[in-house]
Amino acid sequence: MADEDYDYLFKVVLIGDSGVGKTNLLSRFARNEFSFESKSTVGVEFATRTIHVDNKLIKAQIWDTAGQERSEQGHLPCLPVCLHWPGHSRYPARYRAITSAYYRGSAAALVVYDVTRHVTFENAERWLRELRNHTDANLVVMLVGNKADLGHIRAVSLEEAQAFVQRERLFFMETSALESTNVENAFTRVLTQIH
Ligand code: GTP
Repeated sequence: MADEDYDYLFKVVLIGDSGVGKTNLLSRFARNEFSFESKSTVGVEFATRTIHVDNKLIKAQIWDTAGQERSEQGHLPCLPVCLHWPGHSRYPARYRAITSAYYRGSAAALVVYDVTRHVTFENAERWLRELRNHTDANLVVMLVGNKADLGHIRAVSLEEAQAFVQRERLFFMETSALESTNVENAFTRVLTQIH
């Protein structure tokens, strides 16, 4: 199949704190690869994969960026930090422009947290708020609790996550990019929900 053959092209953005596993979810879905190395994403990366849904070919263009403040090195700033202080001097216009460009045209988003680090779940609320400030109300949003293979050191319960997704009307899945659990399901689910 030529890469250019598709019926629909959908942009999907990955957001969430640094180290939650966004890049590995992307590489697992797009290339079936996983890396144990902890290497923060610099700038914005994207990968594509085309899947069949109801006899249609859907090309997913998945965008990934760093969830961490590194603006002093000239990279993307931390989105939640900026969101926290929208009037702050560390939130100059050029960062707002980058943030808008990242979200522009997206049809779906995965808001990712790490099931072993509660703070990443708390910050999901902030990522969601920023997402909603930059996107249409009909954007398909899924909350993703990654690193489910580390269930023995879990810090976020399923009940807690479910209460949040019900309140915010989100889709929800726990995944493991390491063990390849639910990664395919999570992306396929959001892609099939886009209208
Ligand atoms: P930033 O680019 O800094 O925003 O981080 P990120 O969210 O892209 O995280 P990344 O994919 O780089 O993963 C961070 C670390 O978590 C790496 O050491 C990965 O090997 C590890 N990791 C990612 N997914 C999983 C998972 O499902 N299970 C486990 N056990 N480790 C994972």
